[in-house]
Amino acid sequence: MTEKEKKRSLPEIRFTEDRSHTLWDPYLEEGYHSRHGAVQESKHVFIRHGYRQVEGQPVRILEAGFGTGLNALLTLAECMAEGRQVEYTTVELSPLPEEVVEQLNYPDLLGLDKELFLQLHRSPWGERTWITKHFSLLKLPADLRTCTFPGAYDLVYYDAFSAAVQPELWTPELFSQIASRMVAGGILVTYAARGSVKRALRQAGLQVERLPGPPGKREMIRAVKP
Ligand SMILES: C[S@@+](CC[C@H](N)C(=O)[O-])C[C@H]1O[C@@H](n2cnc3c(N)ncnc32)[C@H](O)[C@@H]1O
Repeated sequence: MTEKEKKRSLPEIRFTEDRSHTLWDPYLEEGYHSRHGAVQESKHVFIRHGYRQVEGQPVRILEAGFGTGLNALLTLAECMAEGRQVEYTTVELSPLPEEVVEQLNYPDLLGLDKELFLQLHRSPWGERTWITKHFSLLKLPADLRTCTFPGAYDLVYYDAFSAAVQPELWTPELFSQIASRMVAGGILVTYAARGSVKRALRQAGLQVERLPGPPGKREMIRAVKP
């Protein structure tokens, strides 16, 4: 495939080992999730070590990379079960076309309402929208590198493509911008574990912890704003 053809082609739907879908980006030649299990990875990194570690409400979440909407869907399911308020803000440079989103098997696999999942994707960009009475969503159609992040955050889901393919999204400068919007005690979680990412987070003034990674990965990172 030529470079031009790769740019034009849609991400390809693939199965991961826990039977949940992921997408393969033909241009970057990288998947959106771990091949060992997309749902498993998102639950472990973002829900277990992120969402469930934050107390109080509303929980103000910033996500880097909306993509399939899997993290938003899992968070929505959690907050509905608990009756906790969530204000979710997500940044995405290349929203997925509806024809791809409609095929993703997350609602079926998780036993969740497909309409709610589609609503996450169909809600307008650039405008905070109530998806349920507990969950509001602001999707920013923006580049993380130049985005002005509105508001303050208790929790950051850092889910960009890896530093191997997009090093420009893992810099001390970008993490400093994000850290400046985190409240004291706020946490950032990411599936990444490389040394350069830990150093960049420390340079941005965050305290870095290593945690066990999801199945198939030794480690992940959680960083706390002092
Ligand atoms: C690893 S995928 C994960 C997405 C999502 N959290 C999910 O679970 O599907 C990374 C996402 O970041 C988006 N992205 C890539 N470069 C970006 C940039 N410069 N600014 C904002 N989003 C970007 C991609 O389009 C993709 O949706």
